[in-house]
Amino acid sequence: MSQKHLTIIDHPLVQHKLTIMRQKDVSTAGFRRLLREISLLLAYEVTRELELTTTRIETPICEMDAPMLEGKKLALISILRAGNGLLDGILEMIPSARVGFVGLYRDPETLQPVQYYNKVPKELDARMTIVVDPMLATGNSLVAAIDLLKQAGAKNLRFLCLLAAPEGVERMRQAHPDVPIFTAALDERLDDHGYIVPGLGDAGDRMFGTK
Ligand code: URA
Repeated sequence: MSQKHLTIIDHPLVQHKLTIMRQKDVSTAGFRRLLREISLLLAYEVTRELELTTTRIETPICEMDAPMLEGKKLALISILRAGNGLLDGILEMIPSARVGFVGLYRDPETLQPVQYYNKVPKELDARMTIVVDPMLATGNSLVAAIDLLKQAGAKNLRFLCLLAAPEGVERMRQAHPDVPIFTAALDERLDDHGYIVPGLGDAGDRMFGTK
């Protein structure tokens, strides 16, 4: 089935929680709680196309053919460190998913992403692979992360974030048009420091209480 490149998850609960998270006075604990809650709702949308098969089961009343997820388990890939905040909630919904981590930093001279950590599940070619990072800003790290996941065999990829900037969406459309993006909101633009406007600030700092 053909997929839209960008899906805005406009469920009222998602939008309501996102508005609270954007507010600068929300505490670290409050931000973390909302992120967990919102990630459960986002997980629901990003997994909508998972394929089902039927299995024969016995209820207390009778036998039936009932739907179950088909095939290999999902792979969830968190882009460190902020991706971990989204990952936790999604794992509550899909506890059997395999999990990987990709760490990238920006070289201060070349401004290009450099990989410092990469540990991903085996047999990515047979799994739906959902990459998570709350903020899609320039898209440079995401494009680099998807490059290395494709090199590791991933074919059926999706990206899930909370907020996207048009610049990052366009960068992904050019580099990886086959990877659909799911986001709770598409914001206006990036500022001169690469922050999303209006955004919610630094997602990692807000969820971990660092500054
Ligand atoms: N990363 C963040 O955490 N916030 C932004 O606004 C952009 C990138």
